[in-house]
Amino acid sequence: MSILVIGGAGYIGSHTAKVLKNRGYSPVIFDSLELGHREAVERVGVPFVHGDYGDYGAINKAIKTHGVDAVMHFGAYASVGDSVIDPSRYYESNIAGGLTLLRAVLDNNIQNFIFSSSAATYGEPQILPIPENHPQKTTNPYGETKLMYERFLRDYDMAFGLKSVSLRYFNAAGADPEGILGEDHTPEQHALPLIIDTALGRRKEFKIFGTDWDTRDGSCLRDFVHVNDLADAHIRALEYLKAGGETTAYNLGNSYGTTVKEAITAAEKALGVKVNAVDAPRRPGDPGRLVASCEKIKSELGWNPKFPDIETIITHAATWREKNPNGYRTVK
Ligand SMILES: NC(=O)c1ccc[n+]([C@@H]2O[C@H](COP(=O)([O-])OP(=O)(O)OC[C@H]3O[C@@H](n4cnc5c(N)ncnc54)[C@H](O)[C@@H]3O)[C@@H](O)[C@H]2O)c1
Repeated sequence: MSILVIGGAGYIGSHTAKVLKNRGYSPVIFDSLELGHREAVERVGVPFVHGDYGDYGAINKAIKTHGVDAVMHFGAYASVGDSVIDPSRYYESNIAGGLTLLRAVLDNNIQNFIFSSSAATYGEPQILPIPENHPQKTTNPYGETKLMYERFLRDYDMAFGLKSVSLRYFNAAGADPEGILGEDHTPEQHALPLIIDTALGRRKEFKIFGTDWDTRDGSCLRDFVHVNDLADAHIRALEYLKAGGETTAYNLGNSYGTTVKEAITAAEKALGVKVNAVDAPRRPGDPGRLVASCEKIKSELGWNPKFPDIETIITHAATWREKNPNGYRTVK
């Protein structure tokens, strides 16, 4: 089965492409390389198309050339802060470009589509853990693009019969257990890689944004989920759609929260070094607590995270970082 992995040169897409390949699927990576890495594609070792998903001709050609059966759409601008500063970039690419992609999907009679959505669609949680039917009241343009796209997918099913699964990730974390792929964002804004880089002496300090939240220790509560468990969920979602499943959405987290301070302690334990953490003020727009309820995907698709433990997640991410101190730009 030929799967077009859009954004497959990025963090979650590359890990998913590798797992797809290992399980006998034929992934084809499509990526602009604006935020992703050619070296990640080479390490996965699958066909690659360099292009923008907002370019109808490029997507259409990739689908026809590779006989694509289904699409997994990881491609997006994905920084909450940047989306507040420049929403136009987010709406033009994630939304306008994303609609062009859907046009090509429909024109080629592709029936199955898996979309990288986000916990950001919920906004400030009213109950914890957050179930899929929690109100979606996002608080920033990035979250708006994810929510709007989920709605397009719902409407495209009703009008055109396109079946889709929107996977709402909480905090993607960890790395390929073999240490071949990992997280390499510039600038890095995610907590765990920043904690690890501080532990490894590559950063002077790690800032804890807010120490007065309503949590066990005052720092933010987050739900970290291993990137390979996300990959597994994508394959289960694909199989579900292939078996005639209806359009739906699932949360992906670990259903337990780890505070930022607990993540620091786990990193210190896993790596045997002290992390230089400093207190900093809250950042505007950050929710204090985010924890997923994942009962729906567990009961409906049998998803069960293989690496739920925060220390394992940190160990895999640190192994990748130690083996690739400069990320994918490592000079061999
Ligand atoms: N990382 C997380 O914790 C997290 C959480 C929730 C949701 N998500 C979503 O998951 C997806 C993947 O996240 P990631 O962390 O792997 O991001 P990433 O930036 O590592 O990967 C995104 C990839 O998409 C590519 N891309 C962007 N715009 C493109 C375009 N117009 N045409 C072609 N390629 C394009 C980039 O070059 C990059 O390789 C995103 O949609 C993101 O919104 C991520």
